[in-house]
Amino acid sequence: MRKPFVAGNWKMHGSKASILSLVTDLNSKISELGNVDVAVCPPAIYADFTKRTLSSERISVGAQNMASEPVQGAFTGEVSVEMLKDMGCEYVILGHSERRSIYGETDVEVAAKVKVALDAGVTPILCVGETLEERESGTMEQVIAAQLDAVLTVVGISGFNNTVIAYEPVWAIGTGVTASPEQAQEVHAFIRNKLAQLDATVADRVIIQYGGSVKPGNAKELFGQADIDGGLIGGASLDAEDFIAICKAAG
Ligand code: 13P
Repeated sequence: MRKPFVAGNWKMHGSKASILSLVTDLNSKISELGNVDVAVCPPAIYADFTKRTLSSERISVGAQNMASEPVQGAFTGEVSVEMLKDMGCEYVILGHSERRSIYGETDVEVAAKVKVALDAGVTPILCVGETLEERESGTMEQVIAAQLDAVLTVVGISGFNNTVIAYEPVWAIGTGVTASPEQAQEVHAFIRNKLAQLDATVADRVIIQYGGSVKPGNAKELFGQADIDGGLIGGASLDAEDFIAICKAAG
């Protein structure tokens, strides 16, 4: 049985004051968590502060991006995977659609980062997903397959022993429009079946989160689908009560 995993993607939100308040609220509710792995992903500059403010290891810390260069060097403005580890990050979100669409990250660049994270022992949360145009024009599966294939080419199917996948339909992110549980399940099954063609055991174990306007009111139904193993939560992860309610819906 896969253990569900819920992660909060705080995106570019927060300050020391607001994170102190959010994490203090999370700390007071940690004991309510059931059989679910939980992480929060603050902006990298707040990772250490977040880690030190959390009262328990029960909630892990992750980052939202990292450099593709594996070692430190003359890369102004970049943050390396070793720096993330040093600041207490166990996870790193890679290939989020905002990185792909706003910052032009390609499938190949995302795949390279996945390898760097895996080599360093940081678990990538690999985001895949289609735009509305791609869904409506019938290329959704090709797009998602290409996103996965780029990573498979670099790390092989065994890389998915230590990689979390997040299916995030771009049209559902921050829009209030959620994929229906059936729509999400269909894509999750497609992803798992694709990996199963290479290794059924890896496919059976890999965690596939759903992300896109998950709220306390729709989480249970989404997470109840056979191939949905938790969620990657944006807006609702900035509210401790909502985030904990979503975590509780997962396990
Ligand atoms: P929302 O939950 O705000 O739609 O964001 C989803 C997301 O992008 C998580 O990475």
